[in-house]
Amino acid sequence: MRKPIIAGNWKMYKTIPEARELVTGLKEKLKETDQVEVVVCPPFTALAPVAELIKGSGIGLGAQNLFWEEEGAYTGEVSPVMLRDLGCEYVIIGHSERRQYFGETDEMVNKKVKAALGHKLRPIICVGETLAQREAGETETLVANQVEKALAGVAAADLPQVVIAYEPIWAIGTGRSSTGEDANQVIGLIRKTIARLYQQELADQVRIQYGGSVKPENIKEFMAQPEIDGALVGGASLKVDSFMAIVDF
Ligand code: PGA
Repeated sequence: MRKPIIAGNWKMYKTIPEARELVTGLKEKLKETDQVEVVVCPPFTALAPVAELIKGSGIGLGAQNLFWEEEGAYTGEVSPVMLRDLGCEYVIIGHSERRQYFGETDEMVNKKVKAALGHKLRPIICVGETLAQREAGETETLVANQVEKALAGVAAADLPQVVIAYEPIWAIGTGRSSTGEDANQVIGLIRKTIARLYQQELADQVRIQYGGSVKPENIKEFMAQPEIDGALVGGASLKVDSFMAIVDF
């Protein structure tokens, strides 16, 4: 059985005091983490204080990006070694905002995925289509291709560490979410792709989240779907009440 994972992607929000306030609130409200794994992904600047606050709480820590080298003359970048050092367990890779605004390609995503796994960080690999691609009927080919490229050269033994987030770009931050059924269909296809690249038994172990305008009002619809193993939550993860209502779906 796959344990659902609900992760909050804080994006470029929350100063250190704001991050402390949010995570303190989450800790107070978190009751039972056995049913679902809860992860927060603050901006780099808040990782250390959040790591300190979540010790022993059952909340996991994730970063939102990394660079693939361990160290070196790469001004502005953060390495997998540094993220491990901060206590990160997860790292979001290939978010559509990184692909769109920072020119991340499938090849870069693949390098980052391998670097993360090589340093015992679990990658949350984001894939998803634009509205134009959906309307042109290209969703399935595009998403399967993104998954295949992200996982190129990843050893079968590492696959159970991988989390995939299916995030249709037209649903991110727009308030317009996918339907549970549509998301389930694409996520089922992602699982088939993994089975084709590896084997069914391994594909059945990989957790695949839905992301894109997940809110307290629609989380049940997604979690009721057999292929969907959790959510990557942006906007609604920035407030204690809305994130906890999602976690307690
Ligand atoms: P959203 O963002 O929940 O605000 O749509 C999701 C994401 O970008 O991961």
